[in-house]
Amino acid sequence: MTVTGVYGTPPAELAEAPAGSIQFSPLIPGSGRLEDREEGALSAMVLLAPPGTVERRYTVALALRALAPGGVLTVLAPKDKGGSRLGKELKGFGCEVRETSRRHHRICECERPPQLAGIESALAEGAPRVDDGLGLWTQPGVFSWNRLDPGSALLKRNLPALSGKGADFGCGIGTLSRTILSSPKVTHLVMLDIDRRATEMAARNVQDSRAEIRWADVRSGLRLSGLDFVAMNPPFHDGGAEDQSLGQSFIRRAAESLRPGGVLWLVANRHLPYEGVLKPLFKRVTLRAEAAGYKVYEAQK
Ligand SMILES: C[S@@+](CC[C@H](N)C(=O)[O-])C[C@H]1O[C@@H](n2cnc3c(N)ncnc32)[C@H](O)[C@@H]1O
Repeated sequence: MTVTGVYGTPPAELAEAPAGSIQFSPLIPGSGRLEDREEGALSAMVLLAPPGTVERRYTVALALRALAPGGVLTVLAPKDKGGSRLGKELKGFGCEVRETSRRHHRICECERPPQLAGIESALAEGAPRVDDGLGLWTQPGVFSWNRLDPGSALLKRNLPALSGKGADFGCGIGTLSRTILSSPKVTHLVMLDIDRRATEMAARNVQDSRAEIRWADVRSGLRLSGLDFVAMNPPFHDGGAEDQSLGQSFIRRAAESLRPGGVLWLVANRHLPYEGVLKPLFKRVTLRAEAAGYKVYEAQK
């Protein structure tokens, strides 16, 4: 039986994954774990490579390990997001690469060679580890993987002792959840994130029977109601339109999940227009802190 894989959602006009391919992206809830695939188990793989160098080399190394010798690997990425380095990276793993360019992407194809070179170091560099500075389990590729995000730091400093049951939307590796759970009055905390690796690190960092960790998309994989609080540092990127709407969805989901009188604690980049979304959904919106380009809001439903 031939088993094929796909990682992410490559544009179909650039590289098409065979029908029935198993999805392996950690950013798509429910996907398979490429880390667990037996060596040589896949006959072909199409991979939309992630932008971070360490994460990309790790993912490509996992894909090559999972492929049978002679199995075809197609790797693509936008040129300015690692695509221009793909060919060299694949050659470094011992592959003979055919490379084309289309629609600002670099597309590389190769057969998995019988002998791979240097995948162990790529696998070790991209693997989970304890970061001494953070004092937490983390992995290259997850949000702010080796430093505390300044927005999260501001929210942690301003968060009061919360109580009852609540949620941390986009919990990452669990830094905010650890602060929330330091309050003994918190009875239950749902921690959810769309990144499987983040939830796995969060499970190592937050070993607390009150915590329930879910690998889910806040926009769709959620059935929460009657919560006393929600805390979050919603995803954004350079204020791009798409990411603003993602943050706005987080706010709407929080409003739906809270009981009347429940509170949302939110930190956001100062330039993001979240007040306009908060005000119609919440009874009271209060700016609680502002520093280093970030704002912390408390919004009561
Ligand atoms: C700005 S980070 C905050 C992470 C963590 N709370 C912290 O303070 O370090 C936003 C998080 O939301 C996650 N995320 C992005 N889109 C998501 C979605 N649709 N559903 C759930 N989580 C999402 C990201 O993976 C990331 O971990």
